[in-house]
Parts: sequence; structure tokens; C-alpha cells
Amino acid sequence: MVDLDTLFSLCKRRGFVFPSSEIYGGFGGFWDYGPLGVEMKRNIRDAWWREMVQMRDDVVGLDAAIIMNPRTWEASGHVKHFVDSLVECKVCRRRFREEDVQQLECPACGAALSQARLFNTMFKTFVGPVEEDTAVAYLRPETAQGIFVDFKNVLTTSRKKIPFGIAQVGKAFRNEITPGRFIFRSREFEAMEIEFFVRPGTDEEWFQYWVDVRTRWHLKYGVSPENLRVYEVPPEERAHYSKRTCDIQFQYPFGWGELEGVANRTDYDLTRHAQVSAEDLSYFDEETGQRFIPYVIEPAVGVERTFLAYLLNAYHEEPDKEGTRVVLKLHPAIAPYKVAVLPLSRKEALVQKAREVWALLRPHVMTTYDDSQSIGRRYRRQDEIGTPWCVTIDFETLSDQAVTIRDRDSMTQDRVPIDRLVGIVQQRLADSLR
Ligand code: GAP
Repeated sequence: MVDLDTLFSLCKRRGFVFPSSEIYGGFGGFWDYGPLGVEMKRNIRDAWWREMVQMRDDVVGLDAAIIMNPRTWEASGHVKHFVDSLVECKVCRRRFREEDVQQLECPACGAALSQARLFNTMFKTFVGPVEEDTAVAYLRPETAQGIFVDFKNVLTTSRKKIPFGIAQVGKAFRNEITPGRFIFRSREFEAMEIEFFVRPGTDEEWFQYWVDVRTRWHLKYGVSPENLRVYEVPPEERAHYSKRTCDIQFQYPFGWGELEGVANRTDYDLTRHAQVSAEDLSYFDEETGQRFIPYVIEPAVGVERTFLAYLLNAYHEEPDKEGTRVVLKLHPAIAPYKVAVLPLSRKEALVQKAREVWALLRPHVMTTYDDSQSIGRRYRRQDEIGTPWCVTIDFETLSDQAVTIRDRDSMTQDRVPIDRLVGIVQQRLADSLR
């Protein structure tokens, strides 16, 4: 598998990811997503939303505020439990998560480390004009709490019956002690979470169901089976709210690591919010005539973690006539551009025709256009950013009204009439989604 430095260099050079505030020396754990990165992130979100919300009749969406009433985080247990164990080097003063250091010596300079102390990783901010304690609020470290706090509102307005889920995609913030491994652990990231509410006693079954659904989703959109495994998280490593957690892990260049977590949060969160807010958050089951606090199964994954895993999985170097072809074999739905339009030369008539073809495609799929340098160089440029199809306009196009469509992975080329081009591209995209 490609190493992180090589991937980072491609991401920066081609406009996927930039260090945040780079002209000021960057800012640890924060990243910007360039013209290609923003498309790919949007595609990941869209693919998730399409299958987890749009295609299902038992999940509805929500977009809650990032900053919530601070009592939320008291009730949820995050003020008390959302902590990392931090150790500090007594000489160079670098800080590490205790679980990241092997012996109690500094990985940077070898000196002794301090005793571990707990560090809350929620970012604090102030709401209102006066910086006093009463106005302290938190940037949410997970989107889930917005879902729990809005449970009753969504239940009554959507008129859903249990089992059903609420999905949310949005920014989350964690003051990670050691952000790093490129975008693997960032301080600002985007979470895609479902809280799926079920009858107590059916939770084990639903847990397995969601592990399977989410594993299949990753296999479909961007991970090869040999790079994916399900890891049972031992009790001592689980979050404070979890009765059981399985991580869907990816094989990163630095070893197996979490891609997505599936947790059985039981009735912990709703019970806590009901206690602290004094609102009744129970559910009345018309079928059984019983009232209870639902159990919750939560599949939760980061957009950027998915982005990183899918890029790593897609990266290939293949020998070719000119040396090595770098190709990102991204799923067409995830690739930033679906089609690149390439006139064979910069001759006026070809450029004009190519622009007509480009205009035809643009309302339907994300496209790009390139007319600089040789056609071979341009194919390579598109391979390197994962564009699944290149459409070439040549001199014959002017007489036969047909273009060549080249497939990124097989490199086969088919001649197709321009008036069927949109339909063909749409068909290929639809086939990739089956
Ligand atoms: N609401 C459940 C929850 O927050 P989590 O396992 O802490 O669970 C869910 O996070 C997912 O969010 C992870 O599997 C990972 O994909 C992503 N994630 C968590 N922390 C992250 C970070 N610091 N940087 C990037 N992604 C992160």
C-alpha cells in the first residue's frame, strides 16, 4: 500500500487536501479540502445519505446546531468521561496520548515521561459577549447528541414507529492531544451518524444488522475485502455509553485502525437526557401497549477517515510505456470528476466541438476540461485524480459526430455518437451503483 507521505504529496499537488492556514505555518490537526477534495467529500456524503436515508423508509435526517445548550454535555457524560490520558516529556515538553507510547519514555527524545493525567478533549467556547463561566459552551465532539435531544421532535413530526433511525452529517470537533497520520486524526472533522432506535431486547440483532450494512457499504464504495475487518472492542476501550462496540477497521499503511464504529448505546443517552431535562423521552408502543425508553444502535463514521481509506485503497502504480502510471481506482460515484473532456489538439474547430460536448455533459455529471499538452499526458493526469472516463474529441468527430470514451481502469476505448454520450455515461454510473 502507498505510504502516507506519497499520498499527502499527491493530495497537495493535485488539490485534494492542503494544510490549513499554510501561509502561517499550518495549524496542527486542521486541514483544508481543495477543488478535488471538496468534490470527493461531497460524493462520500451523498453516497452515504442516498443509501442510509433516501433509499430507506426507516431513517429520516436532521441538521442540529453545532453548539448546543451546555447541559447537554453534562447529561451525556461528556464533561466527565470524554477524556484522554495525557503524558508529557519532562525534557522536551512534548505531549502524547498515554495509549500511543510504549514504555514510559518520550518517543521524540527518549527522556522520562510525566504521570498520566486526564484531559477533556471537548473544545470550549463562550456564548454571548461576556467571557464568564456561565457562558461556557462546547463545540460538539459528536453529532449524536443533537439527535437524542431532538428525539421527541422528530418522533412526533415524522410519525415514525420503532424501529427507526435519525441520520445526521455535520462537523464535530475534538481537541486531540496528538492529531496526525495526515487526516486520520484531526481536530475538526465531519461525522456521518445514525442513531437507530429499537425495542430493548432486539438490540443485539440490530447491532449485527448495522455492522453488516455498514461493512457492505464500505466494500461497495471503496475498500477491498482484504483491507477490511470487524474488530470487537474490549470493554475497557469502549466509550462510557457503550454496552458493545465493533470497529470496522481498515488496513492503513501504519496498521489496522478504526474506519467506522458501531456501538450499542442502550437507553443510556435518552435516559440521561430525560433525567436532566425532566422531559419524558419514552416511547409508547401501540403494538404491545408498552411504554419504554428505546435502545440505540449507532453506526458512526468520519467523512475524512473514509476519504483517507478510500484514497489509500484506490492508489495504484502500474508499469506502462512511459514508466509508471499512477491511477486512483476510485468508485465512479466517489471520484471527484466523472468525465474529462479532451480535444485531441488545440485547433480551433476541435476546441469548439469539445466545448459543445462539455456543455452537453455538465448539467448531468461533474466534469472537467483539459486541452494542454499531449493526449497521453492528459490521460495520465486524469488517471492520477481518479476520473473514470475521458472523452476525446478528434478530427473525425467533426464529420462523424462521434467521440472516443476511454475507461480509466481497463484503458479500453469505445467510439460513441455524441447524441448518446450523456445516456452512456449515466448508464455506466448507474451500473457502478448496483
Ligand atoms: N458518536 C459516536 C462517536 O463519535 P467515535 O468512534 O469516537 O464515535 C466515530 O467516532 C467516527 O468518527 C470514527 O470511526 C472515525 O471515522 C471518525 N473520527 C473520530 N475521531 C476522529 C478524528 N479525530 N479525526 C477524524 N475522524 C475521526
